[in-house]
Amino acid sequence: MASLVDQVIIVTGASAGIGEETARRLARAGAQIVLSARRADRLQALAREIDPSGAKVLAVAGDITSEADRAKLVAETLKKFGRIDGLVNSAGYGTRGPVEMVPVELIRKNFETNIFSLIALTQLVLPVMRERGSGCIVNIGSVAGKIARPLSSIYDSTKHALEALTDGLRGELKPFGVRVTLIRPGFIATEFIEAADKASADVVKNAGPYAEFYKNYQAGTKTMRLIAGVPDDIARLVEKALASNNPASRYSGPLHAKLFLFLKWLLPDAVLAFVVRLRR
Ligand SMILES: NC(=O)c1ccc[n+]([C@@H]2O[C@H](COP(=O)([O-])OP(=O)(O)OC[C@H]3O[C@@H](n4cnc5c(N)ncnc54)[C@H](OP(=O)(O)O)[C@@H]3O)[C@@H](O)[C@H]2O)c1
Repeated sequence: MASLVDQVIIVTGASAGIGEETARRLARAGAQIVLSARRADRLQALAREIDPSGAKVLAVAGDITSEADRAKLVAETLKKFGRIDGLVNSAGYGTRGPVEMVPVELIRKNFETNIFSLIALTQLVLPVMRERGSGCIVNIGSVAGKIARPLSSIYDSTKHALEALTDGLRGELKPFGVRVTLIRPGFIATEFIEAADKASADVVKNAGPYAEFYKNYQAGTKTMRLIAGVPDDIARLVEKALASNNPASRYSGPLHAKLFLFLKWLLPDAVLAFVVRLRR
């Protein structure tokens, strides 16, 4: 295990949920943290909490989908700290609704945030890591990257794409000493549900023939809240991955995530769909 003391780590999605808790945990481990998200007030408050002196923390507000904001994030990180040891790609959100009814521009927007912008930011960070012969990329995937659910196919397919991206990248970067890993959270109590509801409100309101199906889905989401983990369940895994000289290709948590993934491995699709109620 390597020490994270003074490691320079960028955390996207640091204004809430998993990214925010990850930033706190990595800072406690002694890392120098760069916080990124759109809500500047939240980033500033977290930066003050992490290190009131400001010496070991930097908040760079911006939209991950903006090329200029991504460039600013990397440039300001290098200006203050001179290097980048880790990138935790946590920024993301979900789109709900039946595939038939989600406008393609909403689908593009979800892929733009969860996949294309993640790739574009990673592209900016990689030369810095590759030239130093070290670094670690941690992508926050999801159990939904392995088990896709009705009415969540758009989001789930962004996370399926992230699985493939992470695997390919891992092999490409191994010769350069850059480690790449994926974390698969299960259901975690964050602002994720609210953000997904907001992003999909119009689609869901006009779900037409799917309206009844959607009601069942919402009931299922409420049940999942009962077994939800907390953001630190995932932050611990991120810390473990970053501190490892040879991280696992994937980590998952909390326990229900491991159980779902085991069932996916074990059961034929039709049986799995019945067990985890993927069909009505
Ligand atoms: N919660 C779960 O059950 C769960 C399960 C599996 C995977 N995940 C994944 O975990 C990651 C974090 O989600 P969370 O649960 O922590 O949700 P969250 O509480 O809603 O946090 C999402 C974060 O992403 C940031 N973000 C979203 N769009 C952005 C954009 N265009 N530009 C910059 N930042 C943006 C948000 O910041 P601003 O709004 O301030 O920009 C926020 O900091 C996501 O990739 C999600 O898919 C979550």
